[in-house]
Amino acid sequence: MIDDLSLERVPPRAGVLRSADQVPPGSVESLLGESLRGPTEPLELNPHHRTLLATLRERLDLGLRGGDEDALLDVHRSAYTVYEAVLGHPLGPAVHERSAWFNAFRSIYEDAVLRGDVEEITDRLPPEGDATRPDFVRDWFLTEAKQRNALDRTVETALAERATLDQLARFIQADGYLNYRFYDALVLAQPHFMETVKHEISQHMWDECGEGTQHRAHTLQFTRGLRTLSLSLPDVPPWEDWRPYAGHNLYFVLACNRRHYFKALGSLAMPELFDVDRDAAVVKGLERHGYTGSEDFEFFHSHIEGDAEHGPEWLDGVILPIVAAEPDAGIELITGGALRMLAMRRYNEYLAERLGLGDPGTAASPGAATEGPE
Ligand SMILES: [Fe+2]
Ligand SMILES: [Fe+2]
Repeated sequence: MIDDLSLERVPPRAGVLRSADQVPPGSVESLLGESLRGPTEPLELNPHHRTLLATLRERLDLGLRGGDEDALLDVHRSAYTVYEAVLGHPLGPAVHERSAWFNAFRSIYEDAVLRGDVEEITDRLPPEGDATRPDFVRDWFLTEAKQRNALDRTVETALAERATLDQLARFIQADGYLNYRFYDALVLAQPHFMETVKHEISQHMWDECGEGTQHRAHTLQFTRGLRTLSLSLPDVPPWEDWRPYAGHNLYFVLACNRRHYFKALGSLAMPELFDVDRDAAVVKGLERHGYTGSEDFEFFHSHIEGDAEHGPEWLDGVILPIVAAEPDAGIELITGGALRMLAMRRYNEYLAERLGLGDPGTAASPGAATEGPE
């Protein structure tokens, strides 16, 4: 039964391409747009596709090695468009999903971005021998997720205690895109590895869908929160910064590749453990402005309690049994968790700058935890 179709966020049939006149000529995004609007050629790379892939390689190199932020935005925003083709409207740009150029694009992007990010987290990884012990891996997740650096604290405190309603609204809008895709990231981790894992993920999916009550589905809760603030989410995110794109894409870089399955599970564990304090800060901030969290912003309110349970459940139902069955998965799970923490720290930096929530110049660099567990 359809409760209210207008609450549904159905993927746009045309995909999430920006119009050609908004896109810099010669960029990856521009060449990608032409390929997505072009004919479907399943097995052939035409000269245009070769130019696209060569430009992608160049821009990845400029961004990842040279630190060029425009190049990073170009490649991560383009990859977001590609994942939205994979996950979006079935009658839209998904027509290219088996094309040689489309898969080459994903492969080049995924390998380069993962290589770069893994280099950044190498010094946070434990010795591989330790990571073969289930208890060690569980404790590693608990410790890492509870660490708050100065920037994390700045953002959470600002949301709870100082943020204006406009700042809170912009936070919620920036956060929205992932909230509609989180279910998909879970679903993509569902193919069988162990029954206990399937069982645990199924419970999370059931929660996401409202535990049998449609209007309690987390996406619909979020839509109602947007409405409370008279907000909408444009098809193309308003991010204008590579960091939120990179963090969003990471879920699908990992989830869309079986060989990264354990990393995907490690990455999914982190927000369950980390986000409880963030959600509590958002609710506190909104209540400062006269709203009632449990009625006006069910999404954030329900996740405070929900994730307080999900985090430990994920450790017991996913992390421990996998490492017990396959000790070599331990370092993979940890790598996925560390990649997610890197992405979350980058996102916090972005939030602090975009919303003016603090002075990022005085905050710690991403990944550098300066304070111990809470
Ligand atoms: Fe949720
Ligand atoms: Fe959760």
